[in-house]
Amino acid sequence: MDALLSSAEEELYVLDCMAHFMVFMAACTFVTLLFENVPYGRYASSKYGAPVNARFAWFVQELPAFLLPLCLILWTSSSKTSLLPNRLLIAMYFCHYVQRSLIYPFLIRGGKSTPFASFILAFVFCTYNGYMQIRYLSHFAEYPVDWITHPCFLAGSVLWLVGWVVNVHSDHILRNLRKPGETGYKIPTGGMFEYVSGANFLGEITEWAGFALAGHSVHSSAFAIFTTVVLTSRAVATTKKLLLGTIKGDIREAFLLTT
Ligand SMILES: NC(=O)c1ccc[n+]([C@@H]2O[C@H](COP(=O)([O-])OP(=O)(O)OC[C@H]3O[C@@H](n4cnc5c(N)ncnc54)[C@H](OP(=O)(O)O)[C@@H]3O)[C@@H](O)[C@H]2O)c1
Repeated sequence: MDALLSSAEEELYVLDCMAHFMVFMAACTFVTLLFENVPYGRYASSKYGAPVNARFAWFVQELPAFLLPLCLILWTSSSKTSLLPNRLLIAMYFCHYVQRSLIYPFLIRGGKSTPFASFILAFVFCTYNGYMQIRYLSHFAEYPVDWITHPCFLAGSVLWLVGWVVNVHSDHILRNLRKPGETGYKIPTGGMFEYVSGANFLGEITEWAGFALAGHSVHSSAFAIFTTVVLTSRAVATTKKLLLGTIKGDIREAFLLTT
């Protein structure tokens, strides 16, 4: 029993260290992204390795974020999955990653190839984060009995849902800018793109910020911080491109070029 207890404590300690390391990596990434764009999609560069087909890259790199947590739930002792707050948080996580890993890659239209290094880093991140989030929620996280009526959980869940809907809807708008076979860039309109140029990124940042608020743990907060760092950088780069008028094909380009 003592041995079991100490191994559980050790595993929780390892999970906490993983979360702190993710925050540290977010700080390093923040500094790096002051000098460089995240190198995939529009900002892909051959200096980060051979190109990997966009659909294949998105499917394979995101799959561990779904499969590894699924295996953890099915085949390891997941003593906390019967608790309602844990169940709801795990459901939020899976809702996102079922869409991201099993649906999103197959909807991509004319996406740019992903450099090999970016593909590997994304794969490692999804594996690392998938394990950290779901192992913590399924085996360790303990919430007060009335946690699901706590303002943090309620506000976090609403933020998560709004963010998820905005993210999926905005990705849908971006996808439909291209006719089959097209690869160029157009100015997105509709939905949250009427208010922000990086609506898909804003949606995902909101989603994981809500998840962190509802989950109230260093693990969910680390994921929200990392996501914010990466996606804010992409959103800023996208906005700069818009303002410089380098995206072709929309009448508003003329306006953007002259203001
Ligand atoms: N949680 C995280 O840490 C994290 C990290 C990265 C991404 N994500 C999420 O993954 C999703 C995709 O991210 P992303 O960085 O690839 O987004 P993105 O740069 O906006 O690209 C999304 C897709 O839309 C296309 N696209 C973008 N702007 C377009 C335009 N103006 N006209 C026509 N097509 C356009 C892109 O094609 P091209 O490939 O040809 O540019 C790509 O296929 C987003 O929902 C994002 O939130 C999450």
